[in-house]
Amino acid sequence: MALWLCCGNGKKRGKEHATWRVFSLKELQSATNNFNYDNKLGEGGFGSVYWGQLWDGSQIAVKRLKVWSNKADMEFAVEVEILARVRHRNLLSLRGYCAEGQERLIVYDYMPNLSLLSHLHGSHSSECLLDWKRRMDIAIGSAEGIVYLHHQATPHIIHRDIKASNVLLDSDFQARVADFGFAKLIPDGATHVTTKVKGTLGYLAPEYAMLGKANESCDVYSFGILLLELASGKKPIEKLSSAVKRPIVDWALPLVCERKFSELADPRLNGEYVEEELKRVVFTALICAQNQPEKRPTMLDVVELLKGESKDKISQIENSELFKSHPAVENSDPKSGTEDDGSDLILEVKESKHDLKENTGE
Ligand SMILES: Nc1ncnc2c1ncn2[C@@H]1O[C@H](COP(=O)(O)OP(=O)(O)OP(=O)(O)O)[C@@H](O)[C@H]1O
Ligand SMILES: [Mg+2]
Repeated sequence: MALWLCCGNGKKRGKEHATWRVFSLKELQSATNNFNYDNKLGEGGFGSVYWGQLWDGSQIAVKRLKVWSNKADMEFAVEVEILARVRHRNLLSLRGYCAEGQERLIVYDYMPNLSLLSHLHGSHSSECLLDWKRRMDIAIGSAEGIVYLHHQATPHIIHRDIKASNVLLDSDFQARVADFGFAKLIPDGATHVTTKVKGTLGYLAPEYAMLGKANESCDVYSFGILLLELASGKKPIEKLSSAVKRPIVDWALPLVCERKFSELADPRLNGEYVEEELKRVVFTALICAQNQPEKRPTMLDVVELLKGESKDKISQIENSELFKSHPAVENSDPKSGTEDDGSDLILEVKESKHDLKENTGE
């Protein structure tokens, strides 16, 4: 099978491995100390991820898929090869894969600064390594990575699972969007996911949660949620009490309508942020996370807005109907924010997934 032997032939860029190859199971077992629990970086919807080191000293992350259908070997190889060809400085490319016996493994470069999730809500959150400049770079970088997927990659790729754990950070804290196109690697019906809707609690566009129809604007919605999370340090869905959950948009929108930007900034920034940039981020975030998909911008617009390249567009957005006084949502209202945005349904869809605890960082 020629496909299994072919490799990418890109040039090496810095430390990045631009070529990809097929790994043997033996090599990956030895790199990860036989998928030792101590090497485990985490677990997502598709399997577990392990840290490993190859014979040449380079560090890798190996995703071991937990569900597999034997029939789709060729399909798997084809999809992996397509994804492996997608290369951009803000995307985490595949370094290779292994398909032996029942095992299906995907190999990536290890990202030493882990994920945005770990910095915002996880193991690194108390260190506050993300100053405002890094956050702006991450916002713009990850948006550029998604622009590449939506508009430049062939075929175009809809991510379907944009969220903080899928934005990894390299040694310079540059964003690398991970797991793009991943949903396609798993044959329908072969996953543990009880519904066809893939994606994560709090990031799902309402129409995607309801109809399961994914397109670019679903990614734009998720990216809007991610931007709010990055600027505020809050989770996409905040647990106000055991019975009350509040989506981040329901918290942010009234504050933006009242132009209380300082209340939106992550308190861990200690007021050290550029106000103009913060405004751009939150306005952009909220137009991305609108319920009506046709009103959302494209990712190309998003990059332009975040970079401040279009002052006119930002002032138009600022004066738009969406940001005219919006009644603040009472924290004590158990139904807050769940009436017209489909969040009830989103909760229902997602709570059957085992990865709920991982993804909400709870
Ligand atoms: N190349 C990598 N370098 C460092 N950490 C990684 C790498 N790839 C994944 N991780 C981390 O390993 C953990 C598990 O990743 P995984 O992609 O399986 O789950 P997830 O991102 O939480 O959910 P999903 O399955 O929806 O992508 C996550 O915290 C992720 O950030
Ligand atoms: Mg992931």
